[in-house]
Amino acid sequence: MKELIQTADWKSEKHVPVIKLPEQAQKGQPVQVAVTIGAEIPHPNTSEHHIAWAEVFFHPEGDKFPYLLGRFDFSAHGASVQGPNTSTVYTAPTVVCTFTTEKPGTVSALSYCNIHGLWSSAADLTLQ
Ligand SMILES: [Fe+2]
Repeated sequence: MKELIQTADWKSEKHVPVIKLPEQAQKGQPVQVAVTIGAEIPHPNTSEHHIAWAEVFFHPEGDKFPYLLGRFDFSAHGASVQGPNTSTVYTAPTVVCTFTTEKPGTVSALSYCNIHGLWSSAADLTLQ
């Protein structure tokens, strides 16, 4: 499975999740994580080619496994009863979630493009 998950610089690759964390987070206090796929170069969002879902994980320092913070399905991609790309509704591949932790660690995100597969990125969370 590890070999199937792609990574790259998000500034040049539209599939990579871009993770935004607060510069100052505090132990036990809410931490807001924002994940956008295609932040610099927008990914296509059509019935035939789109980001279908993203998952966000947190791996506290010293813990054996990461925790799944949330799974987000991006379900609207222009399809309607008239067929593909006939509606005006498109889900943007952006999510925001909030969690608390007593330890610093690593936030990871996994995204899935229906054509180009799995992509991941990670960002370190430091606590004050
Ligand atoms: Fe794609």
